[in-house]
Amino acid sequence: MKSEAKIITIDGPSASGKGALTKALCQFLNYKILDSGLLYRAYAYFYKIRLASDEIKENITNLDIEIKNNELIVMFKGRNLTNDLRSEETAKLASELSALKDTRANLLGIQRALNNEDGLVADGRDMGTVVFPNAGNKFFLNASVEIRAKRRFLELQNRGQEVNMRDLIDDIKQRDLADQSRELSPLLPADDATVIDTSDMSLEEVFSFTKKLIKGN
Ligand code: DC
Repeated sequence: MKSEAKIITIDGPSASGKGALTKALCQFLNYKILDSGLLYRAYAYFYKIRLASDEIKENITNLDIEIKNNELIVMFKGRNLTNDLRSEETAKLASELSALKDTRANLLGIQRALNNEDGLVADGRDMGTVVFPNAGNKFFLNASVEIRAKRRFLELQNRGQEVNMRDLIDDIKQRDLADQSRELSPLLPADDATVIDTSDMSLEEVFSFTKKLIKGN
């Protein structure tokens, strides 16, 4: 299979620093962004309002996702869905639905269709293993549960959402376990991915480390 230099995959558990690195690389390289977790969250959001799977797929294809002030803003038919999608409630349902074959199959084509000659930085759990196995540059980020919970705490607090640190640690542990132990596309580094522990690294450090390793751009 031909390696695609202009696809960079950034996989890892929640709050491992994938999102920040993905945005930094997109802006630096002028590549398109795929936040696949956001698509799973949108899937959960539309599922919860009881839409059928064809309608869910159509709505996801019609989401308008843009980086504004370093944040991904998701608009749908003029409504800003960002906070709904980023809530812990949506994250939990997304994690549950992501274990189902239909969900993954419904999202696979949508994700692959985002790849074009502009270059793509794809952030998720299975970008390097399943969605873009021929990506030329693969990274897998990780960090301790406590550090990740602290990052998520600050992120949700900044968004004005009420959170409790203890609950957050429990949620992250549960979600990690579910994401790692599911049968379909479990959360795992691809064999050819560079694994980076970001626990004691700033975004700038992760960014410059990654930048040096990126080939073919
Ligand atoms: O990265 P996130 O927290 O926004 O992802 C939300 C959920 O979506 C996560 O718990 C698992 C699922 N997911 C997935 O199964 N595969 C992906 N490529 C991305 C996310």
